[in-house]
Amino acid sequence: MLQFSVDSAACIQCGACSEDCPTKIISMGDKGPVIPADKEELCYRCQHCLAVCPTGALSILGLNPANSVPLASKLPVPEQMEALIKGRRSVRQYAEDDLSPELINRLLATAWHAPTGVNARQVRFTVIDTRAKLQQFRETVLNGLEELGANKTLPAHMERFLPFVQAWQKEKKDIIFRDAPHLVLASAPKGAPTPMQDCLIALSYFELYAQACQVGTVWAGLAYLAIETLLSRLQPVLALPENHQIGYAMLFGKAAVRYERGVQHENAPIHYVK
Ligand SMILES: Cc1cc2nc3c(=O)[nH]c(=O)nc-3n(C[C@H](O)[C@H](O)[C@H](O)COP(=O)(O)O)c2cc1C
Repeated sequence: MLQFSVDSAACIQCGACSEDCPTKIISMGDKGPVIPADKEELCYRCQHCLAVCPTGALSILGLNPANSVPLASKLPVPEQMEALIKGRRSVRQYAEDDLSPELINRLLATAWHAPTGVNARQVRFTVIDTRAKLQQFRETVLNGLEELGANKTLPAHMERFLPFVQAWQKEKKDIIFRDAPHLVLASAPKGAPTPMQDCLIALSYFELYAQACQVGTVWAGLAYLAIETLLSRLQPVLALPENHQIGYAMLFGKAAVRYERGVQHENAPIHYVK
């Protein structure tokens, strides 16, 4: 049940909800918008109808529009977004201290607003939320990689991992986890409409929001390969659901480096179709 209801005193019958509905299931009746019972199952639950209503007259899924974040004057101006996108850097120097649990939770809860195919909203974040836990996990991964190297069971193209194990053992140089205090993996059910895309988009939103909050991030390709491919037997340690596909991994924490300016990339290769 969608619990679609309209406050007829507030509804101005402008039709904005019907116009914006992606599945076009809202029709304008004499008393305002309605969703016929036989169309309910087509609803994506995207809540565009609730979001677009100029007078806050419309409720769906039992949600009160007054509890939504008001957007007027809250959105960043384009120059701020541009500075955030261009000023984002991969951070590989981290402070010792952990981020507060409240901040970690806020970063993830915000990133979870990222779009997902067919509004499936099934991305799950698996988080290592303290430096102590990540240290333990790093040991497990590095020992696992060392074992694969010793047994000659590392696939040939993955032998590049061996110098990383040695760098840690000999110099305490952490190339795989970049000595970050936290790790987040995004995963989604293999049967979701777009599991990989959903995970990558969620992590991209996470990264930008984190950096806006002065939290450093770096995409963790090596950690992802280790967890996803080389040492998949570690997945139960992380309690990853069996039917999930890991989208990617990201390291994060309080940055111990500050960038004063952006970098200068060449022009984007843009092709306008004639
Ligand atoms: C999919 C992906 C995987 C990456 N994996 C790693 C990694 O394992 N370790 C690392 O230090 N950086 C990693 N990076 C960061 C890139 O090296 C970095 O984005 C690039 O050098 C440009 O620097 P910038 O992000 O500061 O602009 C990864 C980036 C992406 C997009």
